[in-house]
Amino acid sequence: MKKYSFPKEFLWGGATAANQIEGGFGEGSKGLNIADVLPGGKERLTILQSPGFNFEIDRDKYDYPNHEAIDFYHRYKEDIALFAEMGFRVFRMSIAWTRIFPNGNELEANEEGLAFYDRVFDELHQHGIEPVVTISHYEMPLTLVKDYGGWRNREVITFFERYVNTIFHRYKDKVKYWVTFNEINSGFIMPIQGLGFSIQKEEDKYQPTFQAFHHQFVASSIAVKACHEIIPGAKIGCMILYAPVYSYDSNPENVMYALEEERLFNYFCADVQVRGEYPAFIERYFKEHGIQINMKDGDLKLLKEGRVDFIGFSYYMSRTERKDKTDLEQSQGNLIGGVKNPFLKASDWGWEIDPVGLRISLNQLYDRYQVPLFVVENGLGAHDKVEEDGSIHDDYRIDYLRDHIKAAGEAIEDGVDLMGYTIWGCIDLVSASSGEFSKRYGLIYVDKHDDGSGTLERKRKKSFYWYKDVIASNGEKL
Ligand code: BG6
Repeated sequence: MKKYSFPKEFLWGGATAANQIEGGFGEGSKGLNIADVLPGGKERLTILQSPGFNFEIDRDKYDYPNHEAIDFYHRYKEDIALFAEMGFRVFRMSIAWTRIFPNGNELEANEEGLAFYDRVFDELHQHGIEPVVTISHYEMPLTLVKDYGGWRNREVITFFERYVNTIFHRYKDKVKYWVTFNEINSGFIMPIQGLGFSIQKEEDKYQPTFQAFHHQFVASSIAVKACHEIIPGAKIGCMILYAPVYSYDSNPENVMYALEEERLFNYFCADVQVRGEYPAFIERYFKEHGIQINMKDGDLKLLKEGRVDFIGFSYYMSRTERKDKTDLEQSQGNLIGGVKNPFLKASDWGWEIDPVGLRISLNQLYDRYQVPLFVVENGLGAHDKVEEDGSIHDDYRIDYLRDHIKAAGEAIEDGVDLMGYTIWGCIDLVSASSGEFSKRYGLIYVDKHDDGSGTLERKRKKSFYWYKDVIASNGEKL
């Protein structure tokens, strides 16, 4: 088999988010956040994609799997030891904003929350693992959502600024890789998680969505500048959900349509965060959709000054589009829409599997921006079976990961500057879009099930041993 040459310092590891692993509901004076009010099960996706969500907990009707998640809050030592056993060089995790500022708008930070992450970072360092920390991963404080309207309210920038200054000062000797907003462009499809508000039933979505994006761009630039000032030498990146858009056929009308979809969804946010300015193509879009961004003097200058150092992105699937979709089968599970691609197979959840699409994405991103790239999420959500002897033979996951890592290796040969690769859900966790435990991504199995049962015991899957060899051989042994 062909051997790939990954850079010597390549950042191999795994990725998670606080709300999907920690649990510790209300412990350490943690406040409520968006993930705490999202129910488990199939209804979650409907809630995320429909207008008018009320952000209330209704225990008579629903379960809330994020409240306990996989109890990383109490079991982080055991989990980090397992990551170290695989040889992780980095571990991507997020800080729960509500552990640091329980309501988001306090003047003083919560020491218990700060101390928790000190312990986690220290544990990682003791095992030689560098943390890659996402500042905001789908877990805005609920008070900021309910009382302020989430990111559509400019005042939220001030609270975010206090939060980032607090964590940069506190962890300046412990964290050198930072990520601002997880999948910032997911605000287009799931504003509840990404932008901290639900579109109201009769409301036009365009104005509030883009105004909220603007506030996040300003907040991101503030964070980048503060990070560079407070932690010289640290690297801070943006994070986008990247899914290359293919035209269904060679009809130029469809090619243009795919291009427009691609620019808006994949590039709009990154253009602002990487280049420090709004892209030319958006003016026409704003005009056609009656969007007028309220800006303050100095915003544009700030965007220019607060440009990110690298692009982090998640890659799970590509998307195929035709302008007129009549008579075409829709893709079954792709959250970003599109039509079924006849050349691709799909996961148990209908996400189309396309490793070549990762090579395409890396090349497209690098051609456009020429900044280092970091695949901070890639992985397969699948049903796993525990055999009688306790083993888990997840060869389908190994195949998926191998093909994607090969694609990354090819992209490096193409000349792409790729910093690292972290497998999403390196340990089983709560799915963000469906709230299920049964959608497992892990290399480590967690005994926890959709009905709430399970011992939370951790088990190594076959993919655990495989990834260990991949890292030990720096990607040569796939
Ligand atoms: C990304 C998110 O969208 O994909 C993660 O950043 C999420 O939070 C991951 O878990 C996989 O999606 P899902 O819905 O299968 O959990």
